[in-house]
Amino acid sequence: MKQALRGEAFAEAASQLLAHIRADVERALVGATDEEAESFTELNDRLATLTPDAADPTGSHDLALDWLPAAEQFAPASHRSMLRAVIDLAPHLTWLTPYESVEGSPQLDHFRSNYTAAPLTDACLRNVSAPLGGPGSTQVALFLTVQGADVVYPAHHHPAVEIYGIIAGAADWLRGGEGFRPRRPGDVFLHSSETVHATTTRSEPVVTWVAWLDRFETPPELS
Ligand SMILES: [Fe+2]
Repeated sequence: MKQALRGEAFAEAASQLLAHIRADVERALVGATDEEAESFTELNDRLATLTPDAADPTGSHDLALDWLPAAEQFAPASHRSMLRAVIDLAPHLTWLTPYESVEGSPQLDHFRSNYTAAPLTDACLRNVSAPLGGPGSTQVALFLTVQGADVVYPAHHHPAVEIYGIIAGAADWLRGGEGFRPRRPGDVFLHSSETVHATTTRSEPVVTWVAWLDRFETPPELS
């Protein structure tokens, strides 16, 4: 893992990551459904309002720092510099354990030990416009996620409209009644409000960004 970045280098990595995300969202407009196109356009408008913050290192999580270098071989050439920006930022971010208040089971415990997510907004990308989630909000909640190989993120749902983009690693993704389908780096896809979704990794870890456009205050619930 690289040395911690300082000041301008940190803001530059955040800025590069944001540019990569916006480019993938732009590309995903080709062939998108009307519902997807509306959310993707809204997302890119909101991402344009984010300002990179030159923050000092805050926290870390050994799990993310372990899996990220392992994910490098699963980033295609088109997404290698995007993953490198993630690796540069990772030591500065606060990586969280999901569903900490939910009673454990062998499958859930395995998931919680091999999945982590870190907020980017208000960590290295600042929301500067209308109040979060308020009427006419132009804000966005943006996270990075890292899911290890051979891990099931069980079915879950939430009221927020959610857009995922894959940076590295291929995995099988469930969305509503569609069943599992393979997704790979560069794919950008929408989960409408309350749509049940799940992710199964096999031999590859998966690194993603994920954005919520509304109802930020209600966390996901297992289905
Ligand atoms: Fe979700």
